[in-house]
Amino acid sequence: MDGYLRILASQHGRKKISTTTVLLVDDAARIAGYHTLSSARLDLGQLPPSLMKRYPRYAEGIPATLLGRLAVDSGYRGKGWGEALLLNALERSYLATSVVASAFVIVRAIDAEASRFYERYGFKELPASPGRLFITMRTVQALVGR
Ligand SMILES: CC(C)(COP(=O)(O)OP(=O)(O)OC[C@H]1O[C@@H](n2cnc3c(N)ncnc32)[C@H](O)[C@@H]1OP(=O)(O)O)[C@@H](O)C(=O)NCCC(=O)NCCS
Repeated sequence: MDGYLRILASQHGRKKISTTTVLLVDDAARIAGYHTLSSARLDLGQLPPSLMKRYPRYAEGIPATLLGRLAVDSGYRGKGWGEALLLNALERSYLATSVVASAFVIVRAIDAEASRFYERYGFKELPASPGRLFITMRTVQALVGR
């Protein structure tokens, strides 16, 4: 977590590769976690067949939002900060769709435990890409109460 925040987060921010949001705790003295968001695309063929027919077959794929990183510092885990960061990322993703449309939020889970964390909130694995999960922006809208 430290390495990414010290070295890459600002570089990626300047180049508009990803936007990093940090969670400050202890009167803003410490960073307890962070998430990153970027634009992405999802090939229609990666969706479950039941969903595929609901979206247009554009060569560019379907617009999506990538939750590239989400992490809580090991000393702050188990206190609800992971959920708070995830909901914050989803709310920002949803709000951004009023300017740039996006039909899904996608994530890459680093392991089976991370997949289980996301599945609690309604993410589902992309059938053709084990470890990659998606959630529709409609479900996000309901989750964040918009
Ligand atoms: C996954 C991670 C972000 C969770 O952060 P956290 O602050 O410990 O999570 P929270 O305390 O907000 O937990 C929210 C809920 O998810 C559950 N949960 C937390 N980690 C979980 C996991 N790995 N698997 C399944 N459920 C999990 C909690 O039990 C809690 O449920 P409850 O409210 O019913 O008790 C954190 O463990 C982490 O940074 N891990 C390393 C990086 C990582 O895996 N990132 C995500 C994918 S790349």
